[in-house]
Amino acid sequence: MNYSKSIKNGLLSLAVILTLLVALVVYLAYIRTMNAGLTFTNPLHIPPILEPTLEGDTKVFELEIANGTHQFFAGQDAATQGYNGTYLGPTIKVKTGDNVRFNIVNTLDEVTTVHWHGMHVPPEMDGTPHQPIMPGATWHPHYEIKNEASTMWYHPHTHGGTARQSYFGLAGLYIIEDENSASLDIPQTYGVDDIPVILQDRLFDDSGDLVYGNGGNAFLGDTILINGTHNPYVTVDGKLIRFRILNASNARIYRLAFSDGREFHQIATDGGLLEAPVALDMVKLAPGERAEIVVDLSDDTDVTLVSLPDPSVLSMFENAFENESGRFDLLKIAVTPTETVSAALPAVLNVIERWDEADAARVRPMQLAGPITDGSDRVIVGQGRQIPINGKLMDMARVDAVVTLGDIEVWEVTNAGGVPHPFHVHDIQFLVLDRDGTPPPLNERGWKDTTLVNAGETVRIIAKYTDFANENVPYMFHCHIMEHEDNGMMGQFTVVAPDSDLVGSDGYMLDLDMHAMEH
Ligand code: C2O
Ligand code: CU
Ligand code: CU
Repeated sequence: MNYSKSIKNGLLSLAVILTLLVALVVYLAYIRTMNAGLTFTNPLHIPPILEPTLEGDTKVFELEIANGTHQFFAGQDAATQGYNGTYLGPTIKVKTGDNVRFNIVNTLDEVTTVHWHGMHVPPEMDGTPHQPIMPGATWHPHYEIKNEASTMWYHPHTHGGTARQSYFGLAGLYIIEDENSASLDIPQTYGVDDIPVILQDRLFDDSGDLVYGNGGNAFLGDTILINGTHNPYVTVDGKLIRFRILNASNARIYRLAFSDGREFHQIATDGGLLEAPVALDMVKLAPGERAEIVVDLSDDTDVTLVSLPDPSVLSMFENAFENESGRFDLLKIAVTPTETVSAALPAVLNVIERWDEADAARVRPMQLAGPITDGSDRVIVGQGRQIPINGKLMDMARVDAVVTLGDIEVWEVTNAGGVPHPFHVHDIQFLVLDRDGTPPPLNERGWKDTTLVNAGETVRIIAKYTDFANENVPYMFHCHIMEHEDNGMMGQFTVVAPDSDLVGSDGYMLDLDMHAMEH
């Protein structure tokens, strides 16, 4: 062995490592500067509530999907897409038990869909890739609101195009109230003490135009928008204030906290109110997830909603992914002093009936990431962007899982990859049984439709599949990092009647041509 050569090699690889480290530090410093030190000069946009018309007892909502021109920065035009406007969409607000119908016009020159994220609706109303709205066409989904009080949202689910269409502005909030939520002594005046917070990170060019497609397989932007507003502040009274927070980012995970570290209470998860308020000083939110929090501002002191760094320095990969660059500002909360003294939240918010694991009809493994084993020729060699679930990439014709109507199932979701993946299931709300065998923290013990599965972790979830069976139209399960979803990290399940011939036939193929004719 040549001694001097190996020293030379050693020095060379040291140089490579140093170069990479410098690049990383420069990158982190770059990201750090972008959203830090905001001046909070723009009033937070509050998406308007969409007023329905009544047809009999049905609430009818009109949505128009259109290209737009929006100014995120004064005097600078950006090309966008929106629902009934140039960016994002109105807030839909309904009550449990309402019957709703939508007339959704697609004026884009591309196909899109509208999915009701979190909601328990029939699969043919779910707005997945199986319900495309062609350019110029109108879709008329209708259903009963079966979910309890919660913060849901709507967004495109276009085959291979969800990330891009969401990025340019297609997303909106969908708030459900019920008798329980209305009876509670909690802030519930929309836009006043019940503030919507839609988190999105974006990238802009010098002319103020949105830039998408930064080459990665999970988009991270350096500029944060809240409800489409850059550099935002919101004025509220010095009392209990509720924030309904939706992470509508394509890939960014936030660690939400207040600038002075003050305690707050989480009162709701994705699909409903928690049983009791949970005191926290930080809540982590992955793409697709929602958290409703209440903070006491009766001390009449301004605070800023911020995102904190990940303290686990060990997981370098996860940190970079999450933009581990230190803290960055999100939203200034300007408090108008009031006479109000600190008030307490109700001790009980909700009743959650938990299923017994022993009643589950089956335990279904769901392996996120890991090798692709289905021999798929759809893998783009050299790009390596495709990420499988159970070794397979999304196939519109393949039904990966067949669930029997009325069954309770435990899904054992394992992350075999190196980065966290937020796992989302359509149709149902689930409960998290455990993370690597440990019961979830208190603020995860409520209804969820999306849960973050960390690298190497196994999260077990339980749900009951009720009401809607259709052998021909599947629901989706997928990673909610939208680029992952678009790049194969999605599967399909149908719910079938107990007497169906298809019970137990995971992997059966749909006749998509026949299917297309139904639309
Ligand atoms: Cu929010 Cu299948 O999506
Ligand atoms: Cu969904
Ligand atoms: Cu993912």
